[in-house]
Amino acid sequence: MTHKDKMLRDGSLAGKVIVVTGGGSGLGKAMTSYFLELGAKVAITSRKIEKLRATAEELNESTGGECFAVACDVRHYEQVEQMHQQISDHFGPIDVLLNNAAGNFISPTENLSSNAFDTIVDIVLKGTKNCTMVFGKHWIKTKQKKVNVLNIITTYAFTGSGYVVPSATAKAGVMAMTRSLAVEWSKFGMRFNAIAPGPFPTKGAWDRLLPGPLVKKFDPSKKVPLGRVGDHQELANLAAYMISDFGGYLNGEVIVLDGGEWLKGAGQFNMLDKIPKALWSILKKTMLKKK
Ligand code: HXC
Ligand code: NAP
Repeated sequence: MTHKDKMLRDGSLAGKVIVVTGGGSGLGKAMTSYFLELGAKVAITSRKIEKLRATAEELNESTGGECFAVACDVRHYEQVEQMHQQISDHFGPIDVLLNNAAGNFISPTENLSSNAFDTIVDIVLKGTKNCTMVFGKHWIKTKQKKVNVLNIITTYAFTGSGYVVPSATAKAGVMAMTRSLAVEWSKFGMRFNAIAPGPFPTKGAWDRLLPGPLVKKFDPSKKVPLGRVGDHQELANLAAYMISDFGGYLNGEVIVLDGGEWLKGAGQFNMLDKIPKALWSILKKTMLKKK
């Protein structure tokens, strides 16, 4: 077995209806593919219907599952209501909402227009709020139990980060929403959890966060103590477990999947990695002399 292998047994998500926002590309597509393999019916939704249809067709073919494409810009509440209705009409009651859609780009914060900042906050925080409110209110009204929401955040939701300030601001809000509703709405039979991924190469993220020469200059694997970036299947394995009934006691949790990346940045002396082995004995002698 390797970290690229599939983790759960066949049928682990059988009978579940799952909605993945931003499911037409990148990590949303990878998670959708695995959910289908595990027996779920999955609706994917984002702005670009042609891309979604192509993905649904490809995944239906490769997994033998049922994937349904619905256009929806999560920034608009009425579009989210329509998306929810369309999917419910097609598949019946929905069991899981995966808030994965996001927008992001790097920029010095002082260069951002007001609309640029709003655009990211609207997709990430307001979009997650819109989907959570529409799905959550419906679950409360219909008294449907054993449902759950999984939010994809980032590790800079904890630490903040320069040059992606709208995204950091919005993802921190999503983390607070996750933990708040995990407690408040548990009485309605809902669980809320989040995953904070480290670097997982996708076209969407890499084009916007490491454009042009930056990808060579700032190789993301170099920042990871385990020395590599994430594999999409690793994220799909974790997400499938968290939304499945195996994860039924998991609530209000934010699971970091980053090979130790954010802790490396946080620990004040982690830069001492750069000290060659031979120098340590000299340093020790110097320290002992001072005693
Ligand atoms: C500065 C920018 C900009 C940039 C857009 N804007 N790109 N400002 N630098 N690179 C400004 C525009 O000028 C405009 O402001 C405002 O932002 C809205 O831009 P639009 O292009 O009109 O917006 P829209 O068509 O809605 O597109 C949204 C988008 C785009 C976010 C800008 O990149 C997109 O569609 N992204 C979706 C996918 C995505 O971002 N995936 C990456 C997720 S990665 P003005 O004032 O001119 O009107 C991720 C990883 C996190 O989250 C952690 C990694 C480790
Ligand atoms: P991606 O492929 O660009 O995924 C983003 C998705 O969001 C796209 O499918 C996009 O589809 C959709 N989207 C954007 N704006 C939308 C809107 N207004 N309404 C509905 N859908 C919208 O990038 P990714 O790397 O897979 O990112 C997926 C998630 O992982 C994001 O939440 C991201 O923050 C998170 N993440 C990624 C990494 C990484 O290293 N890749 C690390 C940490 C966290 P359309 O363009 O069709 O709308």
